[in-house]
Amino acid sequence: MDCSPKTPDEKPMNRGRNPIRRLTPRHVRVETVSNAKTVKPIDAVVTAGRFTDAQTKNIRRAMTHKRTIAAIVVIVPVVIATLAAAPHPVNTGNVLIVYLSRTGNTKAVAKMIQNETGGRLIALELRNPYPENYQAIVAQVVRENETGYLPPLKTSIDDISAYDTVFLGAPTWGMQLPPPMKSFLAAYNLSGKTVIPFNTNGGYGVGSSFDDIKERCKGCNVLEGFFVQGGRERDGILFVMKGDKEVEVSSQVHAWLQRVLR
Ligand SMILES: Cc1cc2nc3c(=O)[nH]c(=O)nc-3n(C[C@H](O)[C@H](O)[C@H](O)COP(=O)(O)O)c2cc1C
Repeated sequence: MDCSPKTPDEKPMNRGRNPIRRLTPRHVRVETVSNAKTVKPIDAVVTAGRFTDAQTKNIRRAMTHKRTIAAIVVIVPVVIATLAAAPHPVNTGNVLIVYLSRTGNTKAVAKMIQNETGGRLIALELRNPYPENYQAIVAQVVRENETGYLPPLKTSIDDISAYDTVFLGAPTWGMQLPPPMKSFLAAYNLSGKTVIPFNTNGGYGVGSSFDDIKERCKGCNVLEGFFVQGGRERDGILFVMKGDKEVEVSSQVHAWLQRVLR
């Protein structure tokens, strides 16, 4: 193999003070081409017999260092991108999911949250249930909202202090938080806890529901809520969280939880 210099800047490198600095990519390329199939670039250069043992050692060390940095530059972004894309395990520990649901839509979302978090599900029930008739319940809720009446709950939770994260789910009723959920927030002190609201509605949105929770939950860390269109009892559309809609909402819930619980 002819290792003699080809151009002035390819002088034998053991003549200079620092062989590493003089090891330009061109030198490596020349050696690599002539030994492409059998010898790695670094080996080709150092086995050419132009360096002392110490210099060879230094060159090897420098090249290894460069390879390590190059590997880090390539691998780290790939690892970060992979981790970001992968599902994050959400908090499966002390999670409580309290919900109110009349026609099952909010309950379905509550179950999706339970599937993701492993939390404990609790349905809010009243001592005196609301009327079945839609017009009658609407009229009663209007009255309760106007007077600030808090209907007594049949549901009782004796170990609420055991939970750090409390999901609160309710339908929009009269463009605000339904009275039973207001009763719950009046009865239980959630200060210091992370509170995460969720809602289904008949297409008019959450109204003041999430703000009502913030207002009635002093000292809580209220995170971004989730809301989705559910039924429209007024038009005879009751439970809709099935088939394609269920699949779609499940994936929305998943994405939302990834965001708020990361
Ligand atoms: C008393 C009452 C009041 C309601 N008020 C509203 C409202 O103001 N805005 C709205 O978009 N939907 C309203 N809805 C529709 C519900 O929010 C919607 O059907 C929701 O998905 C029901 O949830 P659920 O199946 O968990 O009970 C009302 C329903 C009831 C029973």
